[in-house]
Amino acid sequence: MEFKQLERKFNEVFSTIQTNEFRTFFSPGRINLIGEHTDYNGGHVFPGAITFGTYGLSRKRQDRMIRLFSMNFEEKGIVEFPLDELSYENAHGWANYPKGMIRYIQEKGWELSSGLDILIYGNIPNGAGLSSSASLEILIGIIVNEMFALHIHRLDLVNLGKKVENEFIGVNSGIMDQFAVGMGKENCGILLDCQTLKYEYAPLDLDGYKIIIINTNKRRELSDSKYNERRSECEEALKRLQQIKNISSLGELTEEDFEAVKEVIHNEVLTKRAKHAVYENQRTLKALKSLKSGDLKRFGQLMNASHVSLRDDYEVTGVELDTLVEAAWEQEGTIGARMTGAGFGGCAIAIVEDENVEKFIREVGINYQEKIGYEATFYVASIGDGAKEITKELN
Ligand code: GLA
Repeated sequence: MEFKQLERKFNEVFSTIQTNEFRTFFSPGRINLIGEHTDYNGGHVFPGAITFGTYGLSRKRQDRMIRLFSMNFEEKGIVEFPLDELSYENAHGWANYPKGMIRYIQEKGWELSSGLDILIYGNIPNGAGLSSSASLEILIGIIVNEMFALHIHRLDLVNLGKKVENEFIGVNSGIMDQFAVGMGKENCGILLDCQTLKYEYAPLDLDGYKIIIINTNKRRELSDSKYNERRSECEEALKRLQQIKNISSLGELTEEDFEAVKEVIHNEVLTKRAKHAVYENQRTLKALKSLKSGDLKRFGQLMNASHVSLRDDYEVTGVELDTLVEAAWEQEGTIGARMTGAGFGGCAIAIVEDENVEKFIREVGINYQEKIGYEATFYVASIGDGAKEITKELN
């Protein structure tokens, strides 16, 4: 997509005569390198923002209407609502994310002095589990913040994005996605402690390697309810552990701690869920260490172990993701591969030696098509910055 096309569309949709009346913003998607389903368990995650994301062109209005148009949902036309009527409406579909964001920003006491026209275009593959919703929430957050010079701290926008997801939309997700989208940094992963929100950037020196994103192209219909189910299972396991252990989250346990007290959970499924949360958190810390010491091989092994745990103990992978990842493991030059994001479809990631990338894509592609019956899609990932105003050409 060319910037000119967005500009033209903006002028056409909002019938402007003058051009260049608007400002342009970009908010990325994310991948998670390791640390899956640990954020809401008080553990660590290690995501990075990607250069796929959501663009927003915006200008102020004279009245108090918000008017939104998404080029990804052209058939819905302009969705509009006044600034003081911000309740969830089924008919508003995708626009509920912006609506929730504007509502919570205002509820926190920041005032929008007028309405806005906003044109949106996203190039994150649809339903791929690369956080298109967090990308949209934070996009709206920075647009409102910048257009009205509200000086909202970035972390407040991140938290408000999560609140939209949890309370406005009803998915009980953790902080990872909005954090990665809001705080990402070019060529860096972010090690985030989801309990304290302390974080550090770790340069991804992947000289000679590429991160490949592989989309299963599986529609993720049941994901939200399954996601909430996993979350309650972990909460129940934690409650049982708290009978004998003074902890406030599963992320506080080492593997040894867990093995010493797990009997008290008294339920096979809940024990497996908690085990994943505890071990995955420790794996994430080990992964950061191995990256810092330049041991990419070990990093890859930890990625592989993460997938096995998500497959066998957490049970959020499914045949599509398993087929992709297991085929990836067999390829020459693959350092590691795992699902990324919530699971139940969506995407996997793999770290692959430059010279083997082409073969990797071909072989994994054929294998997937044969077993699953439709194609997977491959992208070479670039790790980019968090959400920001842009003036230059689009990616
Ligand atoms: C989704 C959620 C995140 C996180 C991941 C799993 O992306 O939005 O908060 O829980 O799943 O790691």
